[in-house]
Amino acid sequence: MTANDKGSEPDVDELHAWCVELATGAAEIVRRGRGDRSAIGAVGTKSSDTDLVTDVDRATERWLRAQILQRRPSDTVLGEEAGTTVGRGGVRWLLDPIDGTVNFVLGLPLYAVSVAAEVAGEVVAGAVVNPVSGEVFHARRAGGAFLGDERLDGPRSVDLPAAVIATGFNYDRGMRTRQIDVAARLLPKIGDVRRLGTAALELCFLAAGRVDGYYEAGLHEWDHAAGALVAAEAGCVVSGLRGRAVSGVMVAAAGPELAAGLFALLEEYGADEVTG
Ligand code: IPD
Repeated sequence: MTANDKGSEPDVDELHAWCVELATGAAEIVRRGRGDRSAIGAVGTKSSDTDLVTDVDRATERWLRAQILQRRPSDTVLGEEAGTTVGRGGVRWLLDPIDGTVNFVLGLPLYAVSVAAEVAGEVVAGAVVNPVSGEVFHARRAGGAFLGDERLDGPRSVDLPAAVIATGFNYDRGMRTRQIDVAARLLPKIGDVRRLGTAALELCFLAAGRVDGYYEAGLHEWDHAAGALVAAEAGCVVSGLRGRAVSGVMVAAAGPELAAGLFALLEEYGADEVTG
């Protein structure tokens, strides 16, 4: 990787390559950190007593920020642990050093580094890397989605009553009570639900056909930016419901055949009305 011209128009192929390189490098830090009991032991809480952060989350984000600063020092960076550093460069980087921190702490092998690059309000490149499996999911806007070198083409063709839908629950206890009501109404209409604990990987798993759909309210941009691009580039419909764009209110995603039916149920049950 070479230093980039700070003032130039961002090259999307280069941003894509950098997302993969940054997420892969950060995943190695996370992988090593999992072996260091003292780092995992230093668990703190954030928005609620179940929203965890470790020294590994913080160290990994510091490394990512330092790498970006070297290459494109004027860009804006939004990271889960250190917030926003506003710059005047053409790119906004969205970083989740460990998506699935609770799984990381437990040693459940479903967590990932997520890195996305946004230009003019649109995520143009992203990578999600699982440090345990070594899987590298990545996508470039209008360039397809990949698991390593393998092109991803989204979930199987399945009817709603057989579909396996992933979802997640917010750290806020009031919100999760409303979310479980929605899930309870949805469950009899679908095949099954999965709660994997990592939005970034769940969206990538949708792209890879490991689940048939996904929805969640209350996510942050760093949770879904890269994964949503991977899912969209694999041919999935990724939406905020009721014609809205993806946001913290709702991220819903499914293959084109399932999307209309699933999204209609989610709208009927108010899956996008649980925040706040
Ligand atoms: C969390 C995970 C989880 C989702 C939460 C997120 P974090 O991210 O993506 O699956 O349900 O809403 O906050 O806190 O592990 O980075």
